[in-house]
Amino acid sequence: MCGIVGYVGGRPALDVVIEGLARLEYRGYDSAGVALLAEGRLATAKRAGKLVNLRGALEEEPPPAGTLGMGHTRWATHGPPNDRNAHPHVDCTGTVAVIHNGIIENFAALRGELEEAGHKLGSDTDTEAVAHLLEDELKSGGDLAAAMRRVCRRLEGAFTLVAVHTGDPDLVVGARRNSPLVVGVGDGENFLASDVAAFIAHTRDAIELGQDQIVELRAGGVTVTDFEGRPAEVKEYHVDWDVSAAEKGGYDYFMLKEIAEQPRAVADTLLGRIGTDGRLTLDEMRISDQELREVDKIIIVACGTSFHAGLIAKYAIEHWAGLPCEVELASEFRYRDAILSPTTLVIAISQSGETMDALMAVRHAREQKAKLLGICNVNGSTLPRECDGVLYTHAGPEIAVASTKAFLTQLVAVYLIALYIAQVRGTKWGDEVFAMVQLLERMPEKVEKVLETMEPVRELARSLAGERCVLFLGRHVGFPVALEGALKLKELAYMHAEGFAAGELKHGPIALIESGLPVVVVVPPRARDVLHDKIVSNIQEIRARGARTIVIAEEGDASVEPYADTLIGVPAVPTLLQPLVTTVPLQVFACELATAKGHDVDQPRNLAKSVTVE
Ligand code: M6R
Repeated sequence: MCGIVGYVGGRPALDVVIEGLARLEYRGYDSAGVALLAEGRLATAKRAGKLVNLRGALEEEPPPAGTLGMGHTRWATHGPPNDRNAHPHVDCTGTVAVIHNGIIENFAALRGELEEAGHKLGSDTDTEAVAHLLEDELKSGGDLAAAMRRVCRRLEGAFTLVAVHTGDPDLVVGARRNSPLVVGVGDGENFLASDVAAFIAHTRDAIELGQDQIVELRAGGVTVTDFEGRPAEVKEYHVDWDVSAAEKGGYDYFMLKEIAEQPRAVADTLLGRIGTDGRLTLDEMRISDQELREVDKIIIVACGTSFHAGLIAKYAIEHWAGLPCEVELASEFRYRDAILSPTTLVIAISQSGETMDALMAVRHAREQKAKLLGICNVNGSTLPRECDGVLYTHAGPEIAVASTKAFLTQLVAVYLIALYIAQVRGTKWGDEVFAMVQLLERMPEKVEKVLETMEPVRELARSLAGERCVLFLGRHVGFPVALEGALKLKELAYMHAEGFAAGELKHGPIALIESGLPVVVVVPPRARDVLHDKIVSNIQEIRARGARTIVIAEEGDASVEPYADTLIGVPAVPTLLQPLVTTVPLQVFACELATAKGHDVDQPRNLAKSVTVE
């Protein structure tokens, strides 16, 4: 949701800010804008639509050159995505500019108060109120940072705010509550951004900001305080990937690059976690073995694709660790009376570590004294800080809105956790855990093999670009894979797509089957004979009713051949690990079909990568 960049240093600020926005555009692309301080004046430019529109406007009317500025890409919450509602927003005097990510919940009351006092607000946004509040606070004395502190104390909701003021021409001020903001520390220059991708071309040294903190950014230094002005503790870290990871590297889309990176991402997520004796060592777990032995229930909370990883985790945890496991949509979790206790382990899965629904679920679990473990891909994000322990997935930056490599690495993380708990609690013999770990280590080569055979899947996808609906069926861990296949198709191709547990078909959904309807079926390995044979019967049932069957099954599974209009073979792997290979063709399918329809798969309509509002 909304990308934010701030810069102060020796370079032309406009270039740095626009380059940062280009790297953050995946966070929102409803409009874009910049504010620069130059020659003692504040210059702003903003345009509805993608960054390209703003670039065009800046070329037509170049702003004065300056070395301090900020920029914003918007995912609209309050007010439609037009020029007027695009950020930055300025005060009545035209000397203060503000950009914002999040939602200021008490904005209506603040706006009413401001209008009554004579302020003229020109947009429908919650953000604009902040510019006018800063105007009033600056009149009553102090610099921009002091004014921001006083304003933040009045705000409710979630926000990252960045502001500049002509009265403080060498200062950029940022504020953070419940929304992401990181500092990039350079040499004679400093950066602020929603995530490190914005400044990775300039520095890999970053500072993680905490809750309710204010950062003052000058070319020569960075000061962080809390909302009361007290010096705040911050965490410095070094980003372990470089600018090439945030570029397309010759691919047409980030999504294609990220699909191709999956073998390496899976391998990197396993790296350093398996000892020479075959025992797992999860250093960042930070929940003691004794505490893990006391756990009597696991609850997984997550959203979207991460939720699907959670559904697969349930099978692995119950099978290997022998613990009851529930999986909850994070957005629903805190609104029901889930029974939690100090012996409940809550696992929160989030690629970004910034998804507001996931963060709120974690805080709800914390209040009830549960142990908290995060699975997260972004170092420096909020979720790991709020959990007792964390397992990082080492997928590298995922920039396409549709999650692909993050999903596969989340699966690896949940397998590792399930096996680790089994090891600690002794629910599996050491050699059984080791045998499974060895199979896991072979998964990068299996995923690579799937990627090498994707041309027929691409062809199939192109041939189905005119369809209105596709159904996906699976059983056991194939069911969440079916859900994931349907989600990918919805978000990228804007097509009606549903995933069903194949056994549920006869309880209703089979009524949807009509002549020619494409139905993708994920078939379990032959070794799971009962499950396997049941789904083969399901395929026959839908085919008898006219469905066009697209079957994903183990290579050499002759039993499905007679009933498959299209057969996609994947390498043979154990049942629980099968999602690592069966998901990949579905990612490729959705990506190709959406591209054939002319869609931008990196920036699908109405979506944003990181959903930082509830
Ligand atoms: O960053 P998170 O893993 O918390 O994000 C959760 C969902 O918003 C995300 O997986 C979303 O569903 C993806 N766009 C799916 O491709």
